Amino acid sequence: MILDGQSAQAIAQAADVLRAGGLVAFPTETVYGLGADAASDAAVAGIFAAKGRPSDHPLIVHLPSGAGQAQAIDRFALPLPAFARRLVDAFWPGPLTLIVTRQHGVGQAAAGGQGTIGLRCPAHPVAQALLEACAERGVAGLAGPSANRFGRVSPTTAQHVQGEFDESLLILDGGPCAVGIESTIVDCSRGVPVLLRPGLLTRAQVEAACGERLRTRQDVDTPDPRASGTLEAHYAPSAKVRLMDAKAIQTALELLGADARHIAVWSRTELKSRSSHLLQRRMPDDAASAAQLLFAVLREFDAQGVKLIWVETPPGDHAWEGVRDRLQRAAAAG
Ligand code: TXA
Ligand code: MG
Repeated sequence: MILDGQSAQAIAQAADVLRAGGLVAFPTETVYGLGADAASDAAVAGIFAAKGRPSDHPLIVHLPSGAGQAQAIDRFALPLPAFARRLVDAFWPGPLTLIVTRQHGVGQAAAGGQGTIGLRCPAHPVAQALLEACAERGVAGLAGPSANRFGRVSPTTAQHVQGEFDESLLILDGGPCAVGIESTIVDCSRGVPVLLRPGLLTRAQVEAACGERLRTRQDVDTPDPRASGTLEAHYAPSAKVRLMDAKAIQTALELLGADARHIAVWSRTELKSRSSHLLQRRMPDDAASAAQLLFAVLREFDAQGVKLIWVETPPGDHAWEGVRDRLQRAAAAG
């Protein structure tokens, strides 16, 4: 059931459901999340069941941005290292998740049993209204993975979420997500910042804010945390995705001639086809706009029954890292 996220009544209704241990899908500026009371292991179990996700995969806990934030951080985490604090000051509320050391005895299920926990303060006004209403009811944070079934493409509209779950799920509609790909994840639990998942924020932005070199997973030899977003074949539509340069796509289209049934192309370069069956969408020239459209485009192609999606390889610079990462994973899936 989709409710207008602008309505105070809908926010109150959603917060009551969450207070009672239920699930609510809510918009963030990155993607839609499937929320439950992060401090309630029973409520969090509902998320794993609904998503079909293994229960040892840790979730992100969403926190309010207002005066109660410091208290909410303390509820779930041990005191943050100075470089993590600087990231909070620079990017919250916003599309950044920090992995920090978990407070003893809290959020065991949300953390997938790990000693660390992911924290994020989303900027979307509907998410913030919901988190404030939850805080008023004694719910300090919402565990919230992307609101899709395990392994599928993240939802960026309320309608995407509706197609994934039982009809009775309460979904707050906050319009299409402005960022469109999931938050940047920086692990702050190993003494130095480690990039676990690229997103909209560039490496340069993160490094400038925290005053440290951003390591990648390969730089640190401690065992990797379990992160489903780090599985090779994550974020996959049903159709097979292939990354190719514009020339290779053009050559393939010429070989197909008039028969490009069940094929879709997403490219920055304008390409020609003799087939009226070909589905073509234009990839924006800037990374932020491409990110905003990415999952919606993949879902649209799927909905049209496409079997094969040819995507023009994105540019190699840092601004495109998040988009490249999601596309490479989608391509690895099939
Ligand atoms: O933008 C986002 O981050 C969205 C919105 C809803 O906030 N959420 C999201 O959640 O993408 P999810 O569960 O689909 O992806 C979260 C990622 C997973 O790869 C998970 O394993 C990782 O964060 N993660 C969460 N807690 C962690 C922890 N304690 N240690 C390592 N990785 C963690
Ligand atoms: Mg996800």
